[in-house]
Amino acid sequence: MNFKAFLPILFWAVASAYENQARQAQDPIAAKGASINNIPFSTRAYWMRRANAALADLASPCPFAAFGTVIVNHTDTSGGEFGKLVCIGINENGKVGNPVLHGEIAAINNCSSILTDASGPYNLSASEALDAFADLSIYTNGESCPMCASAIRWAGFREYIYGTTIDTLIEQGWGQIRISSTEVFRQSFDLSTQSRLIGPILANETDPLFAWQFNPAAPCPVGCARGEMGVCEKA
Ligand SMILES: *[C@@H]1O[C@H](CO)[C@@H](O)[C@H](O)[C@H]1NC(C)=O
Ligand SMILES: *[C@@H]1O[C@H](CO)[C@@H](O)[C@H](O)[C@H]1NC(C)=O
Ligand SMILES: *[C@@H]1O[C@H](CO)[C@@H](O)[C@H](O)[C@H]1NC(C)=O
Ligand SMILES: *[C@@H]1O[C@H](CO)[C@@H](O)[C@H](O)[C@H]1NC(C)=O
Ligand SMILES: [Zn+2]
Repeated sequence: MNFKAFLPILFWAVASAYENQARQAQDPIAAKGASINNIPFSTRAYWMRRANAALADLASPCPFAAFGTVIVNHTDTSGGEFGKLVCIGINENGKVGNPVLHGEIAAINNCSSILTDASGPYNLSASEALDAFADLSIYTNGESCPMCASAIRWAGFREYIYGTTIDTLIEQGWGQIRISSTEVFRQSFDLSTQSRLIGPILANETDPLFAWQFNPAAPCPVGCARGEMGVCEKA
């Protein structure tokens, strides 16, 4: 190979090294080792990985709509130092034919039924369940769309933590409504609750879940390989 032919490859290698660096740098919370609300990055990473794992729990490690959510009580350490998992959810649009069942909405619905289940561990009344969300943190592996970000503010979660940004989803070819969670939160000041917005967190591990769907050259998420139709499937 002569040098001229090699140049574009060299250029690509340098460009992707820079891009990788930029992506890592976008996790400033990890870089600074910041503890937010007394919760260290390692605990944040644990729950964001759990949100990714919800995909395999409820569907596969690489569903097309790879949006996974977990809802956690950080002050309940009865089950361990990381806090207690209350419920999980993933995008179920395709499964049940309901266009609003994004991962966050599915998880909120799931938590409501778990919290109010008379034979479950909580057995809360409806109004107690509404108040309970103020104790809880929602982890979602993709920045919420404005519908879900609004639902998160209506619920009054204590914290909302996301992985992959809407900007990255758009870069990867996803159709998105271009209103950031920051903007939805900024416009929610009339509500009686406060929610802390934390993100992006662990985007280096959430981004690959959303990279393959519109880009045949992108690798499949761990545990998956391209099938006959070129779609990533559980290996
Ligand atoms: C992703 O980044 C975090 C810190 O920002 C690091 O702890 C983690 O090991 C990284 N994950 C991978 C798969 O490299
Ligand atoms: C969260 O944990 C705290 C401390 O154990 C507890 O008082 C509170 O009721 C819990 N809330 C929910 C919804 O689990
Ligand atoms: C609801 O959350 C529970 C607890 O994490 C989980 O076992 C269950 O599969 C979830 N149900 C749905 C429909 O996602
Ligand atoms: C759930 O709470 C209701 C109202 O407090 C109570 O009547 C019922 O016995 C509880 N269910 C169980 C299984 O304890
Ligand atoms: Zn949504």
